[in-house]
Amino acid sequence: MIARINGLNLAYTDQGRGMPVVLLHAFPQNRAMWMPQVDALSKTHRIIAPDFRGFGESDAPQPPYRLDQFADDVAGLLDLLAIQQAVFIGLSMGGYTLFAFYRKYADRVKGLVLADTKAQADTEEGRAGRFAMAQTAYTKGAGAIAEIMLPKLLSPVALQTKPNLVQRVRTTIEQTQISGIAGALMAMAERPNSVPLLAQIACPTLVITGELDGPTPPADGKLMAEKILGARLEIISQAGHLSNLEQPDAFTGAVRSFLNSLT
Ligand code: MLT
Repeated sequence: MIARINGLNLAYTDQGRGMPVVLLHAFPQNRAMWMPQVDALSKTHRIIAPDFRGFGESDAPQPPYRLDQFADDVAGLLDLLAIQQAVFIGLSMGGYTLFAFYRKYADRVKGLVLADTKAQADTEEGRAGRFAMAQTAYTKGAGAIAEIMLPKLLSPVALQTKPNLVQRVRTTIEQTQISGIAGALMAMAERPNSVPLLAQIACPTLVITGELDGPTPPADGKLMAEKILGARLEIISQAGHLSNLEQPDAFTGAVRSFLNSLT
């Protein structure tokens, strides 16, 4: 489905009935990465999964982008769908967006799942790496970004033993618009440190991290779970950064028990 939000066409999935659950995707992926969770959770919940601006079937205007805009786009979509409150699940960049969303719209958050993400801002080195990657996107195209990102997104074992998954993740990256890749890299580079926000998060929270996650390893998940009052931590074994795709049943199971604990 396509909605007109903040002057752009935003694509989204809206499937199932019940308590709304919003799924926010990673970089440089799109809402298709949530397919296993949409299939399973829409049996009991209303699942909303947008493509961020710049990704999937959403419009990809020229940069700059900001994570605040991503958050405003999500809020605009919920307004359009007349959803006041939801549970939000964000993986990696989706999690960074949730910190921006929580800063502005905490009253709309019934529960949070922070998956394979981190509260810290980028280091100087990390920021420099993002600018270099944006340059690569412009000069060498999305295929070069797939080469850089695949070993970050998937664990070594998945890279070796799950060719279909590797191909799916690669194709998604290759089909992503350069403006979206560069825009999101800049947006992530300038995101603030959200560690001070963690103590202010007052809703039920589940933190999920893949045991083999390289970009946001379990230590980052532990930090969030320690600082958010009452948060639970689930480490998914044999899973890399895209833990929802490498171990979909374990990921969905953890989310389902969290959702059940809210009702
Ligand atoms: C993601 O999966 O969204 C990215 O790896 C996040 C990042 O580059 O920090």
